[in-house]
Amino acid sequence: MAEVVILPDADAVGALAADLLASVVRERPDAVLGLATGSTPLTTYRALAALGLDLSAVRGFALDEYVGLPTGHPQSYRAVIDREAVQPLGLTPSLVAVPGGDPIETAGEDYERRLVDAGGVDVQILGIGRTGHIGFNEPGSSFASTTRVKTLTEATRRDNARFFDGPDEVPRHCITQGLGTILRARHLVLLAFGAAKAEAVAAAVEGPVTASCPGSAIQLHPRVSVLLDEPAASALRFADYYRQAWADKPAWQGL
Ligand code: GLP
Repeated sequence: MAEVVILPDADAVGALAADLLASVVRERPDAVLGLATGSTPLTTYRALAALGLDLSAVRGFALDEYVGLPTGHPQSYRAVIDREAVQPLGLTPSLVAVPGGDPIETAGEDYERRLVDAGGVDVQILGIGRTGHIGFNEPGSSFASTTRVKTLTEATRRDNARFFDGPDEVPRHCITQGLGTILRARHLVLLAFGAAKAEAVAAAVEGPVTASCPGSAIQLHPRVSVLLDEPAASALRFADYYRQAWADKPAWQGL
């Protein structure tokens, strides 16, 4: 099962996740990192940048991208990844891939090929949406799905409207790594903060494994770390056990 770690706040989670990423990169300077967008990974990127490692050989693959935004749009995930991850971390832009492009019909297969050619993702950072989505895999997504174009739910469009001038500006389509793609990464690190995520986190970690909660796919993966602040952990049934397991964790074990 997943290892669930509950910490006081997003900064503490970011520091722990950054330590994990740093240890992977120290071992393998050209490690393949799975990058997420949204507000959730920001404390991790900040903490990792503060460690001052040389990350110029690291390869990165973004989880998802909007379809239909003009090239260079500040809310395209290409622009977000450049701003929030590539620049602060000192990644090499040409080594960081974002799905999408022209023709969109074959962009998913193309991205899958690039992931395979890179040897797969060593550590995949994940946020979770209130609909339970990981990447942009909305409820109903197949657990075997690969990178493809999807339609966003209205709930997700509303949640993401804060980044746009208005709700109508949010694209209706996206291209996202599939649940099957995400499950191929060697280590999944799911981060969540705030009470608004508590239900989605509980459903993903402790609920039934079901396409109705795409995040529950993590229960099928042999190596998952779920790093939460207290409010995001507030609906977990076994929170006390997770706290105890973390407090009593053997020093040799690591995440
Ligand atoms: C977005 C992204 C996801 C992200 C999630 C949560 O729509 N496509 O990759 O994990 O929703 O976003 P946030 O971290 O801003 O709460």
